[in-house]
Amino acid sequence: MNAPVITSVSLSELARRTVPRYTSYPTAPHFSTQVDAEIHAAWLMRAGSRDDAVSLYVHVPFCRSICHYCGCTTKASRKDAPIRAYAETLRREIALVAEFTGPVAVSHIHWGGGTPNLLPADCFEDVVEDIHRHFRVRDDVEHAIELDPRHVSREGARRLMAAGVTRASLGVQDLDPGVQAAIGRLQPLEVVEAAYVALRTAGIHDINFDLMYGLPGQTLETIRATAMNAAGLAPSRIALFGYAHVPWFKANQALIDEALLPNTEARIDLARVARETIDAFGYEAIGIDHFARPDDPLTLARDAGTLRRNFQGYTTDAAETLIGFGASSIGRTPEGYAQNAPDTASWTRAIEAGHLATVRGRAFAGDDLMRGRVIEALLSLFQVDLAAIAAGFGAEPTAFTADLQTLRPLADAGWVTIDGWTVRIDRQPTEIARVVASAFDAYLGHGGRHSVAV
Ligand SMILES: C[S@@+](CC[C@H](N)C(=O)[O-])C[C@H]1O[C@@H](n2cnc3c(N)ncnc32)[C@H](O)[C@@H]1O
Ligand code: SF4
Repeated sequence: MNAPVITSVSLSELARRTVPRYTSYPTAPHFSTQVDAEIHAAWLMRAGSRDDAVSLYVHVPFCRSICHYCGCTTKASRKDAPIRAYAETLRREIALVAEFTGPVAVSHIHWGGGTPNLLPADCFEDVVEDIHRHFRVRDDVEHAIELDPRHVSREGARRLMAAGVTRASLGVQDLDPGVQAAIGRLQPLEVVEAAYVALRTAGIHDINFDLMYGLPGQTLETIRATAMNAAGLAPSRIALFGYAHVPWFKANQALIDEALLPNTEARIDLARVARETIDAFGYEAIGIDHFARPDDPLTLARDAGTLRRNFQGYTTDAAETLIGFGASSIGRTPEGYAQNAPDTASWTRAIEAGHLATVRGRAFAGDDLMRGRVIEALLSLFQVDLAAIAAGFGAEPTAFTADLQTLRPLADAGWVTIDGWTVRIDRQPTEIARVVASAFDAYLGHGGRHSVAV
């Protein structure tokens, strides 16, 4: 007879724990001003001296209006002038960074925001041209951009394609009119459909949709309908993000009526219904919040154990160096993380004065890189071989003895299996992976206030 499963640790108790999303390790609250422009310049020079290709991230912190739920670094601009000026500064920053790196090879370009498609087409093309002028963009580059479907036109899609864009993410969020009113984002299905068709007609076939659960007014019926309508359009990938309600950090979220927010149990159910609906359309679950077609590179990477996680979420990108451009962007080299000035004015001042705009970051120290790999594996593959990772860093797995002790109660309750130096998440991995990963976070409890696990 099997031993009875001890359920002393309930799912809702785990889901209520506040833990980082681990798009970096150490996480952003542990960045400091110790990493400055001079240190970052030295890291960039070293990146340029290696043979490896790098990834580029370009941040565009502008939107026409701010959605109530938004947690991104962006601001509203009704006019194009500040966005045009921003693009000019981006061009200077690209030239400046290239002085340090030289013409490195580029395997991935990602435009995030904010709303990168608010850049007028000629500005976008100028920046892309400069990227090509200063770096060696590989022929097989993945060139991705986050788009607000309310601002995608047929001509705009055609010009994105002509500029070399290969993948687009559309912010869909929720398709229910009541929920859309509660989040301050009116965007009927027809708008999403028109953007989707425009992109596909232009020749951009790799299209991702972003959906969210935990939004005000969502019910099991509304989220099922949203997931069905979204998956019914057959995008290549779907991301399903849990709404992170952090009004102490994001003032715009004060516009969310908290009385309409689903509680923890309701969030778990909303996520489950959305996941089941997407699954019924033939998508494979990837990591904690993504879905992809069975033949998608993300699914193949998951199956091969090579799936990676970075600031943009799950990726096949194996580049060790990510260079961030634009206000607030975060880059990473094998030496550590470096973040640009978060506000556009300071970032502009630094670049216009001919300096990198780096204001903070984190040099990797001690076992940071090794722990980062463990956390990445748990969030990507829901299992980890601690001995293999330790060996890769020339360390002993006993470095993780105390962390395994922390996980014991979860193992005793049947959530995870600890077998020698391997850890596997057995039950509801998408819900509890962040909690399990946090057992390997040496800095947890030493700063930062996070959103709930589910
Ligand atoms: C930069 S935005 C996407 C691009 C574009 N601005 C749009 O909204 O259509 C990236 C994604 O982050 C997600 N997001 C924004 N705020 C969030 C929050 N507070 N919690 C969880 N996900 C959030 C949304 O799904 C959004 O599509
Ligand atoms: S969700 Fe997108 S469009 Fe809405 S405010 Fe945030 S970045 Fe802008």
